[in-house]
Amino acid sequence: MIKTLDITKGEVEGLYGILSAAVTPRPIALVSTVDKNGKPNLAPFSFFNVFSVNPPIMVFSPVKSGRFGTNKHTLENVTEVKECVIALVTEDIAQQVSLASCSFDKGVNEFDKSGLTEIKSDLITPSRILESPINFECRVNDIITLGDEGGAGNLVIAEILKVHINEDILDNEGTIDPFKMRIVSRYGANWYGKTTKDSLYEIAKPISRTGMGIDKLPENIKNSTILTGNELAILASAENIPTKIELNARENKTEEEKHIFAKELLSQGKSEDAWQILI
Ligand SMILES: Cc1cc2nc3c(=O)[nH]c(=O)nc-3n(C[C@H](O)[C@H](O)[C@H](O)COP(=O)(O)O)c2cc1C
Repeated sequence: MIKTLDITKGEVEGLYGILSAAVTPRPIALVSTVDKNGKPNLAPFSFFNVFSVNPPIMVFSPVKSGRFGTNKHTLENVTEVKECVIALVTEDIAQQVSLASCSFDKGVNEFDKSGLTEIKSDLITPSRILESPINFECRVNDIITLGDEGGAGNLVIAEILKVHINEDILDNEGTIDPFKMRIVSRYGANWYGKTTKDSLYEIAKPISRTGMGIDKLPENIKNSTILTGNELAILASAENIPTKIELNARENKTEEEKHIFAKELLSQGKSEDAWQILI
């Protein structure tokens, strides 16, 4: 059975829960802004991502409150002062960030409430967040309002002016190490995700070559009842069907046995060996 919601027929009950639980995991922007009098504000937004590198653009979306129809203070602030710091949220500060998300009155400084520390930015008025290992100083180029009703998003289009990275989260090559960074992500309801060795794995996709694609696999492999779509995709990431070499392990095996063996090899990351069993 498939559950459907026809939005065109007004079937929107539970839509927030579905969207926020389906489009996951989401990164969390911890956004620091000031109002026109320079009063600081800090709030998290998981309707957030990076959308351009040149120019470097990130977008987050303060949504109009469904209950009260009010706008978020962050939105009011970026309308008044077109600047913000976007910081990323790690496990060490996730509880403080959650606390900063409470609906405090306008003018309340969530840095004080959350215990996070303000540090001066170099190019803009809103403060950076000391405890976050990555802070982006941004200019707000545009705000796109997506509707007037409760639940309507507002795309805040922020251009990065300056990046600050704590070197503690870099590996020996100077690249951000996900296990040192320990970024936290947002799922639906009260769920958050951690970045652990168990939760991450690599998919090798050398950009120097183009995979042949599943449509180009030999029929006996493509129509396998044993190999999954994922496993076929690993095989089809090879540029060409490899040249067959002499191999004892292939001999005296039924087609089914070859597929089972290949499956095992693929699970060990041995895609070339799997190919040799199958051809
Ligand atoms: C992890 C997390 C992610 C959130 N993401 C969003 C979001 O994307 N959009 C939104 O409008 N509110 C989001 N919220 C709720 C806001 O942070 C909350 O409404 C906050 O009070 C807004 O603060 P402000 O009025 O000072 O801007 C999120 C809350 C948490 C804890």
